[in-house]
Amino acid sequence: QAALPEGYKLRALRRNDFDAGFLDCLRVLTTVGDIPKEKWEERYDWIARQDGTYFVLVIEDTNTSPPRIVGTGALLAERKFIARASIHNLGSVGHIEDIAVAKDQQGKKLGLRIIQALDYIAEKTGCYKTILDCSEHNEGFYVKCGFRRAGLEMAHYY
Ligand code: ACO
Repeated sequence: QAALPEGYKLRALRRNDFDAGFLDCLRVLTTVGDIPKEKWEERYDWIARQDGTYFVLVIEDTNTSPPRIVGTGALLAERKFIARASIHNLGSVGHIEDIAVAKDQQGKKLGLRIIQALDYIAEKTGCYKTILDCSEHNEGFYVKCGFRRAGLEMAHYY
């Protein structure tokens, strides 16, 4: 397991992370929009109720005052009716989503550390595999994290 730099902490998302720059961190990945705090809290509370299904991790840099969120990633453990071969009855499939590391923090293995932690949770929650979608540009990163190309993504936008 890669070590985190001094003063960096990997932990679960908290309700007050709105003020610690969580959304700014996500903006590295995609358009987030202007989310008011009460909407954020509503969504946070909904996620928190999905006990054992929905995990959002962050890396916080406590060297700054106040501490700042510099990385994030999520895992959804999808409960299946199907099993893999005959080993896992009623297995789960992990879905890794929304991996983002702040621009000025990339290349310090924070992304790798987040994936390793999500992988660990996936295994512990009974997932027999974890899948994700990414661009060609990020394929090398996920290969370094132990993933390999499998399948083809299809999308239907509404
Ligand atoms: N292509 C090839 N290799 C890469 C890439 C890349 N795009 N990015 C990192 N690597 C390599 C690193 O060089 C390192 O290799 P090493 O162990 O030989 O030194 C290894 O992968 C681990 O890299 P990290 O330092 O952990 O990567 P970082 O912390 O910078 O995070 C990430 C990578 C998450 C892709 C980051 O660059 C980022 O946030 N990008 C913008 C948002 C994004 O594209 N997120 C992923 C979307 S896909 C999804 O969410 C499922």
